[in-house]
Amino acid sequence: MLEEIKQTAAWIKAQTHDFAPEVGIVLGTGLGDFAEAIDTEYALEYKSIPGFPVSTVEGHKGRMIFGRLEGRRVVAMQGRFHYYEGYTMQQVTFPVRVMQQLGISCLFVSNASGGINTSFRTGDLMVITDHINLMPNPLIGPNMAELGPRFPDMHNCYDKALIAKATAIAEEENIKLQYGVYVGGTGPTFETQAEYRYFKAIGGDAAGMSTVPEVIVARHMSIPVFGVSVITNCGLSDEVGDHEDVQRQGRKAGAKMQTLFRRMLRDM
Ligand code: HPA
Repeated sequence: MLEEIKQTAAWIKAQTHDFAPEVGIVLGTGLGDFAEAIDTEYALEYKSIPGFPVSTVEGHKGRMIFGRLEGRRVVAMQGRFHYYEGYTMQQVTFPVRVMQQLGISCLFVSNASGGINTSFRTGDLMVITDHINLMPNPLIGPNMAELGPRFPDMHNCYDKALIAKATAIAEEENIKLQYGVYVGGTGPTFETQAEYRYFKAIGGDAAGMSTVPEVIVARHMSIPVFGVSVITNCGLSDEVGDHEDVQRQGRKAGAKMQTLFRRMLRDM
């Protein structure tokens, strides 16, 4: 596994003439437009990258973009791999391992999720302050000791300094932020009403099907993480979950997310 990660990183370095990204960005459902803002130097389709799985979900472009944004060298994943697509957790998190080998020192993650905190509204941006993992843990299996410890600590999983920075920026930019706990389930079904109530009862504010595996793996390697979630639907209301709605809401709220991420990059 480690060998495969290193081989993929070496291949990417050769393709990108040793472009050394400082920040990794994972763009979630409906948030791919963000990639347009990047002053792109290289773009690699996932299907062309040795060792990478291929994304199968509509609305997920499936490429890795290397370029500059607000003066920072970034690598952005336009589309991610989900457990519900049938990939193993090792496949889902492989790109994060590779980004670490490429040298990122910070990871920004984004996703679409269903609000279960009843004060949330569709289109809200929620800063992820913590998560509850209801998927298989991606670190199950032999530990890659070169990358991190057997029993990684999960305090400060979502970096408090980065959250404070986001709060200050949002105030300046007049962006309303919500804060909360992201519950990561496997999907692909949206939750039943009873499941949304259960997620709320155990301390969740939003429900989603991604992000948690990537964050666990990043934290295994001690990479600071900042995460935001676009609330695309409200689980405890009577509305029905719909992938098109999720994509549309994602794109709408994407502008706010873009402002936030860009300012954070600039101020780093
Ligand atoms: N549940 C799980 N994942 C989601 C949801 C939801 O309600 N909305 C967008 N992604």
